[in-house]
Amino acid sequence: MQYKLALIGFGNVGQGFAQILRDKHASLAQQFGADFIIVAVCDLLKGSVCDPNGLDPATLLDTVTATGSLETVSAPHHGWDALQTIAESGADVVVELSYTDLKTGEPALTHLRAALNAGKHVATTNKGPIALHYTELKKIADAKGVEIGAEGTVMSGTPSMRLGLELLSAAGITRLQGIINGTTNYILTQMEAGMTYADALQEAQSKGYAEADPTGDVEGYDAAGKAVILANLLMGATLTLNDVDRTGITGLTPQDIASAAANGERWKLIGKVEKVNGQVTASVRPTRLPITHPLASVGGATNALTFTTDLLGDVTLIGPGAGRLETGYAILGDLLAIHRHFGK
Ligand code: HSE
Repeated sequence: MQYKLALIGFGNVGQGFAQILRDKHASLAQQFGADFIIVAVCDLLKGSVCDPNGLDPATLLDTVTATGSLETVSAPHHGWDALQTIAESGADVVVELSYTDLKTGEPALTHLRAALNAGKHVATTNKGPIALHYTELKKIADAKGVEIGAEGTVMSGTPSMRLGLELLSAAGITRLQGIINGTTNYILTQMEAGMTYADALQEAQSKGYAEADPTGDVEGYDAAGKAVILANLLMGATLTLNDVDRTGITGLTPQDIASAAANGERWKLIGKVEKVNGQVTASVRPTRLPITHPLASVGGATNALTFTTDLLGDVTLIGPGAGRLETGYAILGDLLAIHRHFGK
């Protein structure tokens, strides 16, 4: 079965996903019977290109690497904006990868509404619209009989959402707790090894872990957005960002980190979502853990999430939490889920 994809946003994640299709297209078709074709790419900075017959991922990647733009990719259409791309590219699935805005969810929110209203499936790694407007978007998706894939909004391609939505929901999830921001975990790990905060942040940015505006990471907003997504999608809550009791890592000094290390402890930015007496609460806080605590050994951009459930007790998932290919893989997971659910 063939799926035509329109990519809205061609930054780290879009390029990571294109790389996966470049390298795995044939084996995916063989293994799953799913033929994923990029028909359009639209990026605010790099321009846009559409070919209803398909664009070669290698050409897209090489051109952007060489010129920083999509303009010289040979194709019948150039210069369409995101909404025209969604409406006219003939895509079956809109892959929304524009930058995250946790205040308004825009411009992704408008893109997702347009795609869903046009009866297209969507796959997104964008936390803004999912944290802020999931209920509304899900209503449109259900009315139109299409799917919203949002695996990459939490723990990048590590399948936290699918684990919670599909495999653990019957076990009764009562608490979710862990390290859900890669940038801050990377910074804390590097600072403990002696690097300055500024250098560690710069490295996290150059490795593609940080948000376009890294304030969202270091002040804990990114983790708070993910806590809201976990609460609302996996625990049936209706939290907003303001409901999260949030503190970032900017108040931690090198002395705090050294003094924890001297006492056999380690700082981690811990996100927690908990259901008590039917009420769901969420927090994001720097927490000093004994070095023997399972979460204390999770270093770098790796994330970890412990699902506490009624029937299984604790189940812990550890894996990449950020990165180009890692987040691109989340899109592939969403597309394969769409194929499983609709590809008959
Ligand atoms: N900036 C995010 C992080 C990217 O560092 O975790 C993945 O959501």
